Amino acid sequence: MYILGIETSCDETAASIVEVKNSKIKMLFSAVSSQIKIHRQYGGVVPEIAARNHIKNILPVLNKALDNKKPDAIAVAAGPGLISSLIIGVETAKVLSYIWQKPLIAVNHLSGHIYSAWINAETFPRFPILALIASGGHTELVLMRSHYKFKILGRTRDDAAGEAFDKAAKILGLGYPGGPIISKYAEKGDKKAVNLPRPMLNSQNLEFSFSGLKTALLYQAQKDKKLKNKIPDYCASFQQAIIDVLISKTTKAAKKHKIKSVMLVGGVAANKELRSQLKKEVKKSLPNADFHLPPLEFTTDNAAMIATAGYFMSKQKKYTAWNKIRVDCNLTL
Ligand code: KG4
Ligand code: ZN
Repeated sequence: MYILGIETSCDETAASIVEVKNSKIKMLFSAVSSQIKIHRQYGGVVPEIAARNHIKNILPVLNKALDNKKPDAIAVAAGPGLISSLIIGVETAKVLSYIWQKPLIAVNHLSGHIYSAWINAETFPRFPILALIASGGHTELVLMRSHYKFKILGRTRDDAAGEAFDKAAKILGLGYPGGPIISKYAEKGDKKAVNLPRPMLNSQNLEFSFSGLKTALLYQAQKDKKLKNKIPDYCASFQQAIIDVLISKTTKAAKKHKIKSVMLVGGVAANKELRSQLKKEVKKSLPNADFHLPPLEFTTDNAAMIATAGYFMSKQKKYTAWNKIRVDCNLTL
């Protein structure tokens, strides 16, 4: 079976063809046309500009994907995300479904991030699964007892982890997007150099809050006369504060629900330090659980994850007629 995935929920225009054979999921083609260079000058994504660029990019990206294989089904991210961006992908998928008379699958972008851990995987995660989704728009701990059964155990009360990285980079005058820049500087910094809070680390629930951390960083940076020489230290300390909270809550949730597989997904899962520290912690404090990560290229937004999530929906016959599909910018799991 071949599935075409389409993703346009934010500022990436992406298409992918995924092959499912002998229950293995293999990415045959994946193209992501990024608009980072365009939005960088504004310090963040401008929805209107993102939508206009999706219109420009969607057909070239799709054409490349379709050089490869004619799909048996079409999976498209229908939310959450920017409404004007989502519409471009969904309208395109509708047309293809109608013309080719192929089933259409409306995928939740967040379930796409979760299923990114199945792409090209040799061993699949085992249920019950705990997924930490950490992206620019979301920070959620999700319990899965079987395919497409999601239970949110906790989420952020304010900023998402990726958003916190982006805002911190802005405060430190480093550019956009913040995550990759901060993690690069952090490699040369001392993570104990700047004293920053670990919001909600000791709270009993599984919720997160990152906006106070960002404000603490702002106050420290504002009064520090030597800030310019200490950017790596600031980056390493800020990154470690986020990692500490993410790891602590993930481990707590995994113990509570007797999890067999822990997975880290979403754009922040590209963070090397977080990847390796969480892996170590799972090994140490959850000896009966294994740890799963998507390949690096499928951590940030892509269409292979949408195609893969679409495959698992198609197994449960979760199709939507081309004339019934709707975008939903606040779609939840
Ligand atoms: O999943 P994604 O591509 O888009 C959303 O669905 O939001 O995530 C983008 C987010 C951005 O906030 C970006 O700063 C963050 O992921 N990110 C990182 C790294 N690479 C991307 N955060 C920390 N470390 C990284 N290496
Ligand atoms: Zn995303």
